[in-house]
Amino acid sequence: MQKRHPLLQGQVQKYLDEELLDEQLIAFLEAINVDYVNSENCKQLMQGDLKQRLNDYQESQDWLQRLQLQLIQQEKMAAIGQLAAGIAHEINNPLGYMQSNVETLGNYTAKVRMFLEKLQELRGKLQAEEVNKDDFVTQVERLRRQGKIDYILQDIDAVIAESLSGVQKINKIVKSLLGFARRGEIVEMVDYDLNQGIHDTLIVAHNEIKYHAQVVEELGEIPLVKAADDAINQVLLNIIINAVYAIKEKGDKGLIIVSTKLSEGYVVCRISDNGIGIPKQSLETIFEPFFTNKPAGVGTGLGLSIARDIIVNKHEGKIKVESEVGKGTTFVISLPAKSAV
Ligand SMILES: Nc1ncnc2c1ncn2[C@@H]1O[C@H](COP(=O)(O)OP(=O)(O)OP(=O)(O)O)[C@@H](O)[C@H]1O
Ligand SMILES: [Mg+2]
Repeated sequence: MQKRHPLLQGQVQKYLDEELLDEQLIAFLEAINVDYVNSENCKQLMQGDLKQRLNDYQESQDWLQRLQLQLIQQEKMAAIGQLAAGIAHEINNPLGYMQSNVETLGNYTAKVRMFLEKLQELRGKLQAEEVNKDDFVTQVERLRRQGKIDYILQDIDAVIAESLSGVQKINKIVKSLLGFARRGEIVEMVDYDLNQGIHDTLIVAHNEIKYHAQVVEELGEIPLVKAADDAINQVLLNIIINAVYAIKEKGDKGLIIVSTKLSEGYVVCRISDNGIGIPKQSLETIFEPFFTNKPAGVGTGLGLSIARDIIVNKHEGKIKVESEVGKGTTFVISLPAKSAV
């Protein structure tokens, strides 16, 4: 007979007298006992299974968490890698031609030096009357032609000008990057009049705008806001210069409309142009560092990413773009009016 399950044994002891049990009852108890033992085994199996499942769940939870961290890390690394590749690419191009220009200048200097040394030699001969004046002039002319001195002197200016533009390009990139690096710095917030900022910016940009577009100002009554004035003016300038570029690309004389209003707790500025517009698939990417449609060497592609950093991160504002290819583009900047004084 199988050993009784403790629960059944307890019941038997409590209610029955073992001595008096007849065969039928014993068989009955044995049958019940089999069920008791079976269900006990089942229970233990299920408990074990549940424990295992809990363990598995915990493990997969840990694994997911590790994976998530890993993904975040990878994403960060990818973003840094992308940024670094962008910077490297942007700096590499001017660096490339500056290096070749410095080599050219080195060659030119060697040739000019040789010419001067030969000139010195000839002068000595002239003084020693080993050559007469006419020969001297003829030989100087020949050396000058041979050494391509006229061409060199002419080209030096172009080589220097190109190198300087490379330096300026690198300088612009580095300055823009420093703008990013200062993200954590405390920027001085002043009482800022957005209408005045627009006015000042339009004056600064006047030369860029005047041949390509007419500007219409529709400035509403808005309160002062707390803002880093220079930074916001830089954003306005970037957007206006982009608008002029988009109009120039289209070819016709264009229209830029700048408007301001107070709306739902924000001071809102809309800058619209009727330039070439932006394709739908680029509407998000235009805010990414180094995204540019301008020819190599013209734009850094940092203008809008800096604008977004200034508006969103430094001022808790919003920047949005609406555009239709061939019709034009509107940038909408919103600054919280809550800090207005
Ligand atoms: N108003 C606009 N109309 C059409 N395209 C625009 C407009 N503003 C921006 N873009 C597109 O977004 C891209 C990114 O602009 P962003 O200002 O960041 O860089 P960029 O103007 O190319 O370079 P940078 O500002 O350094 O001169 C531009 O190259 C252009 O293709
Ligand atoms: Mg720009």
